[in-house]
Amino acid sequence: MENGFTTQRLTLGDGRTAVPVYHYRKLDSTNAEAKRRGVADIAVILADGQTAGRGRLGRQFFSEGGIYLSILLPAEALLYSPMLLTSAAAVAVCEAVREIGFDAEIKWVNDILVDGRKVCGILAEAVSEGDNISGYIVGIGINIGTPDFPKELSEIAGALPLSEKGKRTLTEAVLRGFFAALTKAPADILSYCTAHSAVLGKRVRFFGAKEGVGQAVRLSEDGGLAVMTDGGDTVILTGGEISLRMD
Ligand code: BTN
Repeated sequence: MENGFTTQRLTLGDGRTAVPVYHYRKLDSTNAEAKRRGVADIAVILADGQTAGRGRLGRQFFSEGGIYLSILLPAEALLYSPMLLTSAAAVAVCEAVREIGFDAEIKWVNDILVDGRKVCGILAEAVSEGDNISGYIVGIGINIGTPDFPKELSEIAGALPLSEKGKRTLTEAVLRGFFAALTKAPADILSYCTAHSAVLGKRVRFFGAKEGVGQAVRLSEDGGLAVMTDGGDTVILTGGEISLRMD
């Protein structure tokens, strides 16, 4: 291990592109390391643990024993709306988890659930230089094994029971799936997210810029969630958060 990390190369499906994967034992946060490194080239930062894993809305992400990775993308590598990046990552994780036999579903927009429990969170961030977006960082955290979750997560978080070999297989499948999703048509990403949604057709509570309660009815063209409120209006959520718990 040199400078705290080893470098592997992931050859993609085209047989030509080799993406460097910088593998650390421990980092503060793979997204933070990605920011320090910069997004000039496609690369992956992978860590076995994080001391300051970050989630959406300023939350911490519990980061022991699972898979923690960030994909670095220069802006020109993204051929569709940045809003769909989180959905593309959700497709990759959901499919990779289903391939190894778990009934995974996507909880709009950035969580993967198995048996109703969150096993994965996704945090996509834009990197700016002045007024321009120079690229994106897509962070993915997957809970593995029997984590000692803090009390506030014990009711909602889950983990996949995988060996070290299973973890490596899942990591590779997620990365391959993500790079494949980058070349998919937005309509294909949305149709996968629709088919494997944990929320469509259900009553949801939504928080953030818009707040209310209603039925999740469909995904919008750019990956937003359309909710028919109890008042009869349809609102398109493009951020914030939803909850399936109505109590
Ligand atoms: C969420 O559930 O709110 C998103 C969690 C994202 C966690 C991943 S773990 C790898 C990457 N590095 C981070 O600090 N966060 C993301």
